[in-house]
Amino acid sequence: MPTVVVVGTQWGDEGKGKVVDALAPSVAAVVRFQGGNNAGHTLVVGGRKTVLHLLPSGALHDHCLCIIGPGVVVDPAVLLAEVDQLSALGVDIERRLRIASSAHVILPWHPHVDRQREVAAGAHAIGTTHRGLSPAYEDKVARRGLRIGDLISPSRLAAKLTMAPIDGYDRAEVLERLAELGARLRPWVVDVPELLAELRRKGEGILFEGAQGTFLDVDHGTWPYVTSSNTVAGAACAGAGVGPTAIDQVIGIAKAYVTRVGGGPFPTECAPDVAEALRAAGGEFGATTGRPRRIGWFDVPLLRRSALLNGLSAIALSKLDVLSTRSEIPVAMSYDGGWPEDLAFARPVYRTFGGWTRDLSACRTRADLPHAARAYVDALQEAIGVPIAFVGVGPDRDHTIDLR
Ligand code: GDP
Ligand code: IMO
Ligand code: MG
Repeated sequence: MPTVVVVGTQWGDEGKGKVVDALAPSVAAVVRFQGGNNAGHTLVVGGRKTVLHLLPSGALHDHCLCIIGPGVVVDPAVLLAEVDQLSALGVDIERRLRIASSAHVILPWHPHVDRQREVAAGAHAIGTTHRGLSPAYEDKVARRGLRIGDLISPSRLAAKLTMAPIDGYDRAEVLERLAELGARLRPWVVDVPELLAELRRKGEGILFEGAQGTFLDVDHGTWPYVTSSNTVAGAACAGAGVGPTAIDQVIGIAKAYVTRVGGGPFPTECAPDVAEALRAAGGEFGATTGRPRRIGWFDVPLLRRSALLNGLSAIALSKLDVLSTRSEIPVAMSYDGGWPEDLAFARPVYRTFGGWTRDLSACRTRADLPHAARAYVDALQEAIGVPIAFVGVGPDRDHTIDLR
């Protein structure tokens, strides 16, 4: 069984959750390795929708361990609410959940700090999810944060909280609340690197599920309009606790057009009327915050850059069905002047593809696709230089064409 990393190749919301859910039957575990509940990963099974923020997208598969790795920052209340929600639906997640003791905690004031800073920044705001990601990661690298291992040990929790800056909060109340949350998390807390090594010794498949997307990466994205973690495939190793030699394949998820939530450069962003039509057709509203997503045309230079940053072995192209009924589909094939240091200065050179009008949701093979849709997929594959292994033609687990 292979070890596979799944990452977003654009600015997030590419459809990672759907692909991870569809691939989960062939692995023993799905591991989140960075980010936190800024993510919103949507799974649709038989028309029923589940949105996961912290739980790995293997959650609906009875055999699958769901592992939250050391590189994730965990809001314990959000995690427990998600566990309770799935349990109420009859999903036996409590038996399959594992959490790294070294994962950092999003503390009660982190979301407030995040929101206050964004409000103060006014027009220069990043457009964060207000979930406290940046304050939590700041405390981690400043070596003053709390970890899950602290939360589950009452004595360590009390000692650590004494040192934490918790302006405006009642220390005793915070201690009591965190101790309560920690007590519930305790049965799931393990040494994740050791668990992963054991699965590998047994020859089990493991899937590492990225959150956000390549151009939200804190080092490689459109900084400062990025998230506070590394989102590229290499981060799976550090964020889960496996060596680079453990990774067999990297699958990049790319939307057949591009979306972005929040501020920052977006070279192929399209005109408001076209954006509105595609937003409606694709349901492009944030799975976490409900914000309307910005919409743009497929960007080949972005994907070529993503291929080199992630070492992509294959691409899953999502939401091809959403482009149905557009008579013309522009694609940025290159940037005039090449890849700029700042994407705000990218000058896309477009080629216009012919559209198709047929509903694609029943297509299950390449031959089922209209000629123009096949030509679109082939041209993207050729221009990016990475095989397109899957094509998404609808939100459901089964709405996929396997081109391998
Ligand atoms: P993620 O964050 O990458 O997991 O993506 P999100 O769940 O935030 O957003 C992707 C949205 O597109 C969700 O509503 C999915 O149900 C939906 N989706 C995923 N793949 C496809 C597809 O191939 N076609 C259509 N129509 N919807 C899709
Ligand atoms: P998934 O995993 C899309 C964006 C925010 C903002 C920036 C920083 O569902 O693809 P943060 O709260 O992380 O400090 O916000 O990153 N962002 C996402 N955009 N999908 C996501 O996750 C995102 N997570 C964060 O909109 O621009
Ligand atoms: Mg999402």
